[in-house]
Amino acid sequence: MDLAKEEQEMLSGRHGNAVRSSMNLLVSLGEIFGAKRLIDISSVQIAGVSYHNLGEAGLDYLSDLAKDGKVKVLTTLNPAGMDMENWKALGIPEDFAEKQIRVIEAFRKMGVVTTCTCTPYFVGNSPPSGSHVAWSESSAVCYANSVLGLKTNREGGPSALASALTGKTPEFGMHLDANRQAKVVIDVEAAMKTIPDFGALGHVIGNRIGNKVPLIRGVKKASVEQLKSFCASIATYGGTALFHMYGITPGKTAVPEEKISVSREDIDNARAEMTDGKDPDFIAIGCPHLSLKEVGEVAELLRGKHVKKEMWICMARPVMKDAEKRGWIKDIEESGAKIACDTCMVVAPIKGRFNVLATDSAKGCFYGRGKNDFKTIILSIPELIEEATK
Ligand code: F3S
Repeated sequence: MDLAKEEQEMLSGRHGNAVRSSMNLLVSLGEIFGAKRLIDISSVQIAGVSYHNLGEAGLDYLSDLAKDGKVKVLTTLNPAGMDMENWKALGIPEDFAEKQIRVIEAFRKMGVVTTCTCTPYFVGNSPPSGSHVAWSESSAVCYANSVLGLKTNREGGPSALASALTGKTPEFGMHLDANRQAKVVIDVEAAMKTIPDFGALGHVIGNRIGNKVPLIRGVKKASVEQLKSFCASIATYGGTALFHMYGITPGKTAVPEEKISVSREDIDNARAEMTDGKDPDFIAIGCPHLSLKEVGEVAELLRGKHVKKEMWICMARPVMKDAEKRGWIKDIEESGAKIACDTCMVVAPIKGRFNVLATDSAKGCFYGRGKNDFKTIILSIPELIEEATK
C-alpha cells in the first residue's frame, strides 16, 4: 500500500503504541483486500461492545489500547450487554455488570462518546452524505450506505476502533463507487405497509441474493422506521451492506439485467417462517433501537394500561432523555414495561430466562433463535402491546 509520510510515522510507533498497532491492523486489512491507499474517515461506530462477546481477552485488549490511545473522529458504540444505569431492573448479574462497566470505561478513556446504540444516526453520529466512515453494526452499516449516502464497509469491532484511533480506513469495498452499483433488480409486487412487512421483505431478498447489491423497485413509500427495520433484516438474512430503493434512497446505479420478483405470498411465507412460538413470555420492541417517533407511539398505546409480561422497550439513551421530557417514559414505565437503554434483547445475557420472544423485528427473530434459543413471534407494535396487556 502507498502510505503518506504521516501514515508511515504512525506505523513506526512515533505516535504511540495504540496508533502503531491500529495502523498495523489497517494496513494488513488493506493488503488482504487489495486497497491501494488509506483514506480519511469522519465518523466511527464500534460493535462488539458487550462483555458477553468480548470476554476477558477483549477487555485486556481495550485496556491496553486505552493506555495511550485517543480517538481522532466522532466515535459512538453499539449496544452493550446491559443498560448502563438500569441494569439491576433488567435482571443483569452483578459480576457481569462490573465487567461491562470496565469495558465502557476503557472506551471512555479513549475519548469515545459512550452512547451505546445501533441507530447512531438518531443521536448525532450522522455525517454529511458522501462522507467516508467506519461503522460496524450490520443494520447501521446498511442504513449508512443506503439511506444516508455514507460510504462504509462492515467493520469488525477491532478495525472500527483502529479507524477511530487513526482517523483512517483502507480504501476498498463500499468506499469505491464501482462496488456500489446494483447487481440484481428486485421487483416488489406486494404492497409494503407495516414494519414486519419490511422485515419480511428483507428476509426474502436477503435469502435470495446474499450479499449482492440490489436495486429494489415497486416500494411506493417507506418511513425512516420502516427503512431501519428493512436494513436490519436484509443485512441479517443476506449480508448486503448496500441497497438502492428506487425513488426512495439517494444512491445512483445502472439497472442490471438479472431480475427477481417478490410476491405477497413470499412476504406472507417469510412472516410465517419467523413465527414458530405461541404464548410469549418476553416481548421486546426496539430492534434496531427506536426512533423518538416510535417511542411516542409505544407510549400512547401503553398509556393507562397494565403490562402482564416481561416487556423491554429498547432505545438509545439520548432518545430516552428526549422522550422523558415529553412524559412518554413515565407512561411506559407506569404500564410496567421496562426501558432498556444502551442494550437490546439480543446482546443482553438473557439466554435461559425466557422461552418465547414476541417482537416486531425480523432481525430479533433471527438472533432470538440463533443466540438465545427462543421460539419467536413477529407482530406489529400495536399487536405486541395488545399481547403484553391482555
Ligand atoms: Fe440493534 Fe440489538 Fe437489533 S444491536 S439491530 S437492537 S439486535
